[in-house]
Order: sequence, then structure tokens, then C-alpha cells
Amino acid sequence: MKILQSFLPLSFLSLLLLALPSPSHQVPNPRLQNAFIALQAWKKAMTSDPLNFTSNWHGPHVCSYNGVFCAPAPDDGYVMTVAGVDLNHANIAGTLPKELGLLTDLALFHLNSNRFSGSIPHTFKKWTRIFEFDISNNKFYGEFPNVLLYLPSLKFLDLRYNYFEGPLPSALFDLKLDALFLNNNNFKSKFPKNIGNSPVSVAVLAHNNLPGCIPPTISKMSKTLNELILIDVGLKACLPQELGKLTNVTVFDVSYNGLSGQLPATMGNMKSLEQLNVAHNMLTGYIPGSICRLPKLQNFTYSFNFYTGEPVKCLKLKSKDDRFNCIPNRPAQRPPKQCKAVTAYPVSCSTGTC
Ligand SMILES: *[C@@H]1O[C@H](CO)[C@@H](O)[C@H](O)[C@H]1NC(C)=O
Ligand SMILES: *[C@@H]1O[C@H](CO)[C@@H](O)[C@H](O)[C@H]1NC(C)=O
Ligand SMILES: *[C@@H]1O[C@H](CO)[C@@H](O)[C@H](O)[C@H]1NC(C)=O
Repeated sequence: MKILQSFLPLSFLSLLLLALPSPSHQVPNPRLQNAFIALQAWKKAMTSDPLNFTSNWHGPHVCSYNGVFCAPAPDDGYVMTVAGVDLNHANIAGTLPKELGLLTDLALFHLNSNRFSGSIPHTFKKWTRIFEFDISNNKFYGEFPNVLLYLPSLKFLDLRYNYFEGPLPSALFDLKLDALFLNNNNFKSKFPKNIGNSPVSVAVLAHNNLPGCIPPTISKMSKTLNELILIDVGLKACLPQELGKLTNVTVFDVSYNGLSGQLPATMGNMKSLEQLNVAHNMLTGYIPGSICRLPKLQNFTYSFNFYTGEPVKCLKLKSKDDRFNCIPNRPAQRPPKQCKAVTAYPVSCSTGTC
């Protein structure tokens, strides 16, 4: 799916840092000397570097190392320091040594698409300026790295496509993040009750094991939330009426779950909605017409449910998918026997049980 694999555009900060020339003749200062210790320890902890990405990682001039970006220190403009590390797509295998904690001025840490494994060192708690932390598409494992809960500048957290497991700490949703990508791991806990506390604009939790219901307090995200991707996380029961308060959401995907009952008609208030996917659930009843009247809705996918009716307005959407439901006189619907097995036991959403 497109949303899962694409990356947010680099922040202004990253563009600025990546555009800076790496001065190769910086006079090593104590911070760069620490960086030298950290990066040499890291090079030693690398077991494979097939693209020779780190082949110039020797000598004290760390600012000229491939993937290492220096900038004047935020607290002392006369001192150069390592502000960014970007090893995206280097296909390096190895681990992260505790010495990396010495990179205390780091703002960006990008390791997308490598083969790093192991866990995240506790020494990263010294990364008080870290803003973007992206270790996606590696082989990290273990429980959620709790050290990430103590980084006061963190805005962009991307752990997707790793082997993390165990519960998601509830403190994660109290952090002042802008973007949170946790998809395609093995996280396992009840669906986060306090997700509504999170000020993120993008939250992707897809393909984890987080059974439960979206809490009504999701409405607290109304001013900030833009994309919410909850594919295949184990959602069940009904979607809450309060979704209607999410008027800035453009992409909402709850496909491949066990949702039942009807879609709340209040979703017709999600006036920014462009992409809506509720396919592969146990939804029943009639599609609320309010949803298909949403002014920006381009693509509404509700195939593989047990709907028994849809407004004509829905059929007129630019892109829609109503296959494998129980809708009379529509092509490619479920066999009547399958339909009866589910529609004979209507689910009432008014009882609000989860
Ligand atoms: C990396 O360096 C090794 C040893 O010098 C060489 O055999 C190999 O071809 C290099 N690989 C690339 C992708 O340049
Ligand atoms: C939310 O949407 C409104 C219009 O629907 C827009 O004016 C506002 O800028 C949006 N806020 C954010 C944070 O995107
Ligand atoms: C509409 O959304 C579905 C589900 O996300 C996707 O598979 C499909 O390609 C989309 N259609 C268009 C035309 O974008």
C-alpha cells in the first residue's frame, strides 16, 4: 500500500542539514572527538557493508564521513558538531553500540533500509536534540525501546518494518510527536486507550496485534490528525460516533479488522476525508449517505463486508469498491448463504460495548 511505503518529505531541518557541505578540515574539538569515538565503535559493530558506504570512516575528520553531517552546535555557533547521521539504503548489517550515545547534538538519525539488529542502547537518552528518529526497515527486535520516551525534542518516530514485539507503552501517546510509524512489527497489546492524547498528524499502527476498539476520546485529535492507518490491528465491535469530530483527517483506513455493526452516520462530518477504506470487516446494514456526500471523498473502499444496501451517491464516487457484500442487484456479491450467516444476527452499536 502506497501510504505505508512512502516517506514523509524530509523536514525543513533535514533539508538544511543535508544540504550543508561537510567541511573536511574541521579542527577536531571535544565534541567531534567524542563523535570519532562513537562512529569508530559503530564501524567496529558493523558486520557487513556491501556498498562500502563506510569505507571513508577513518581518521578524526568525522564531518567528511559518508552519511555524517556536521553543523555549528546549537549552544555554541563556533563549535562544529555532528548534527545528522543518514545511512538510508546502505544495506549495512550490525548493531548499535552504546558509544553512539556520545552523539549528544544529533538532530537526525536515519537508518532506513539496512540490516541492523539488536536493541536500541539506553545511552540514547543523551540525545536531547534528536528530532527525527527513523530506523525503519531493519531487523531490530525486543520490546518497545523505552529510551525513546525520554527524548524531549523527538517529533518524527519511525520504527516500521522491524521485529519489535510486546506492549506499546501508553506514555508513547502522550509524547508531543508529529508523526508516528509503528507498522509491520509484532507489537501486541490492547488498542491504546489514550491514543487521543497524541498530537500527531500521521499515525500508522497497521499490521500489529492491538485488539480492541477505537476509543471515543479519539475526538481529541481533531485539530491535528491528518492520516490514521489502522489496517490489520485486530479492531472489533463498532466504530465510535466521535469519528465525526475528525474534520482534518484526509486518509482513514481501518481495513482488515473485525469491525461490526454500521458505520456511524457522523462520519459524514469528516469534511476533509479523501480516502476511506473499511474493506475486509464484518460491517452490516446500509452505508450512510452522509459519507458519500463528503465533498472531497475520492476513493471509498467497502468491499468484503456484509452490507445490504448503499446509496446511489456512493456508486457515483470517482473510485469505489462494493464487491463481496450482500447488496441486491449488484455484481460480485457474496453467496446468499454467507450473507444470511451474518446478517441474521444484527449488531447494535448503541450499547457501546467493546
Ligand atoms: C567494496 O570494496 C571491496 C573491497 O575493496 C570490493 O571488492 C567491492 O567490489 C566493493 N563493492 C562496491 C559495491 O563497490
Ligand atoms: C484543519 O482543517 C481546516 C479546514 O477544514 C483548516 O483550515 C486547518 O488549517 C486545518 N488544520 C490543520 C492543523 O491542518
Ligand atoms: C482506492 O483505495 C483502495 C484501498 O486503499 C486501493 O486499493 C485503490 O487502488 C484505490 N483506488 C484508486 C483509484 O486510487
